[in-house]
Amino acid sequence: MISTSAPAKIILVGEHAVVYGEPAIAVPVQGLSVVAQAQPSTKPGLYIEALNTGECLTYTGDDDNSPLLHMAHIVLQALNVSVPDIRITLQSSIPIASGLGSGAAVSTALGRVLALAVGSALAKPELNQLVYAVEGWHHGTPSGIDNTVIVYEQPVYFVRDESIQFIRVGRPFTLLIADTGQQALTRVAVSDVRRLYEDQPAVIKPVITAIGALGQRARTLIEAGNIEALGQIMSENHVLLQKLTVSSTRLDQLVMAAMQAGALGAKLSGGGRGGNMIALVTPETREAVRAALSDAGAAAVYETIVT
Ligand code: PMV
Repeated sequence: MISTSAPAKIILVGEHAVVYGEPAIAVPVQGLSVVAQAQPSTKPGLYIEALNTGECLTYTGDDDNSPLLHMAHIVLQALNVSVPDIRITLQSSIPIASGLGSGAAVSTALGRVLALAVGSALAKPELNQLVYAVEGWHHGTPSGIDNTVIVYEQPVYFVRDESIQFIRVGRPFTLLIADTGQQALTRVAVSDVRRLYEDQPAVIKPVITAIGALGQRARTLIEAGNIEALGQIMSENHVLLQKLTVSSTRLDQLVMAAMQAGALGAKLSGGGRGGNMIALVTPETREAVRAALSDAGAAAVYETIVT
């Protein structure tokens, strides 16, 4: 049996503004992942079973309007190989539609396992392009940040249409990730921000530019290991995201609870309106912030160390 995996991700700074060419920073999340396994099939053909959703798909030579089959299709095309007789199972611990990159992680793990199963391998740049193509299926015109951080599995400083820059983390830091329990579609939030941008450019453009400036400062602070100042940037970013109308009562409550319990900074992460928020904590504040997030009604709290 062949096994591969891909991690979840969160956006530290710069979501939404990244769609307009501003920088954003994203990091992989430890402990949440998609695992893909391939084994020889007793029947001829390629079968993909997504254990979480109960989907059981048969590849018939085209993409059949399914992101999983589309990924399989373009991987086989890119590798120029015929359809193997295998069964692939996908198991994910990443909550869906909550800003943790579940779709991109599924595509990445699937692409990797399928390439290995046909005796080949996909280089990261190539896999990244293929996963981006499937992201487009899900989200319309995504910036590409999700697939990039998930395929490369390291902190990235991402500017649309520019080459990928990796961030050297000066001092590791811990993030708590709290789930509102409310699913929200990124593409709806992105298109609402677009409408706002077009209706009120004089108000919204400066907000987008200010978020971009925070992204640049955050990179310098991460590299210098100045975690305290990074926390302030995250909180400023949350206020700017509120101005873009992508926060929600639930997200604001969790952000406030984290700050009152001593977090260095807190903000929504990803498309917003639901999904997850993140809080930057120290070893001294971690447990208090975790308890405060649970008390404030978080559906789940995850932890990751950014290195
Ligand atoms: O997939 P999410 O919910 O983490 O959001 C992606 C970030 C956005 O900037 C809102 C959209 C994009 O394509 O970059």
